[in-house]
Amino acid sequence: MRGTPEKDGTVKFMPAAGGLRGRLEVPSDKSISHRAAMIAAICGSPVRIRNFLRAADTMSSLRAIQSCGVRVDDGGADGDLVVHGVGLRGLSAPAGVIDVGNSGTSIRLLPGIFSGQVGTFTLDGDESIRRRPMDRVVKPLLEMGVAIQAREGRYAPVTVEGGCVHGYRYEMPVASAQVKSALLLAGLYADAPVEVIEPAVCRDHTEIMLAHAGARVEKEDSTVRIFPAVDLDLGEVDVPGDFSSAAFFLVAATVIPGSEVTLTGVGVNPTRTGLLDIMSQMGADIKMENERLRGGEAVADLVVRSAALKSIVVGARITGRAIDELPLVALLGAYAQGETVVRGAAELKVKESDRITGLVANMTAAGVDIKAHEDGFSVRGGGVTGGGFESRGDHRMAMLGAVAGAASRDGVEVADFECVEVSFPNFLEAMKSLGGSVR
Ligand code: S3P
Repeated sequence: MRGTPEKDGTVKFMPAAGGLRGRLEVPSDKSISHRAAMIAAICGSPVRIRNFLRAADTMSSLRAIQSCGVRVDDGGADGDLVVHGVGLRGLSAPAGVIDVGNSGTSIRLLPGIFSGQVGTFTLDGDESIRRRPMDRVVKPLLEMGVAIQAREGRYAPVTVEGGCVHGYRYEMPVASAQVKSALLLAGLYADAPVEVIEPAVCRDHTEIMLAHAGARVEKEDSTVRIFPAVDLDLGEVDVPGDFSSAAFFLVAATVIPGSEVTLTGVGVNPTRTGLLDIMSQMGADIKMENERLRGGEAVADLVVRSAALKSIVVGARITGRAIDELPLVALLGAYAQGETVVRGAAELKVKESDRITGLVANMTAAGVDIKAHEDGFSVRGGGVTGGGFESRGDHRMAMLGAVAGAASRDGVEVADFECVEVSFPNFLEAMKSLGGSVR
């Protein structure tokens, strides 16, 4: 069937002749949806979540809290969720293992909440989750007095036995919002304030939402401090569109001549929009309109038109604010004059897949002049010819292949495209609605 992944999950994206044009409401923010489900679960009264992302990853968080005794009324497809929070310490330990599927955010954040509960909680996930480092969360939680164990001390499955949490000051060795969030959530249960120092700015949705729920959270330069909480109350959360999903179309419309796309209701929290800074330095034409606030989060419509690009060097200072979008910089670089370099991004190797190795293999197979570095990549302008892309089960790699195909001369065939379910289940419809050609 046209536009539907075939049985083997392979989809071919053809050049988008004439450009991408139209308006698109991108899916709701994945990071904020995860946090809304988790924080709602420990509120003292019901929380209404509008625009919760119904994708594989966020449904994993929702199922996780349900398995801990939290009732969720689901208004279905486009309806609201009502999460009947059980209070800060009201979660009950499920009989079996909590399966987070492919969701790194679920497995890294939930231990923070479990550390303040009564009982034993075990988290596990798919093959990719079992390869991803958990020691970055386990080590500081152990130092806070939490009884937490991981396979070989560093991989899933992870078991947390709730109980005692001590105040702590932790200087994160890598800029990780997931680690910061786990420690702040554990800090709700601590006997003294918990301070996390970030080496570079990374997303602050947890801080924003916890402050909205009534927790005392302070930010001073690169230090975030949370005080023990007595009760949380979120009331209502309205989840904005996901900047990381919008990013695929920001890049596609920029590099495909004749494009003009408006992306509506996109979250533009500055801790997420490093890509906008990168693209503006490269000469992209993106305008922010209709700026507003939703639940403390900045939201805007983004209008993007195709533009000629120049190469730049992207360094560690910005990578934490663009971590999930960095593979797209390879595509921008392929359409820029000169050599574009990304460094200070070794974290790409420990995402849903090794995004340096996969990116370089895929882009090379599609005719791009790119080489890998330990902590990034360099790419030369010259465009995408076309070829085959392996998603490696990584949703963002699959969507990068789709956008590369739309920009290419001959088209790009993406294997295992169905993994886009993780964050952007209706990606194919979105691409087609803007004039993309899929077969
Ligand atoms: C996320 C944080 C980032 C990001 C991930 C989602 C979050 O990971 O890559 O997709 O929701 O906190 P790190 O915190 O490991 O950098």
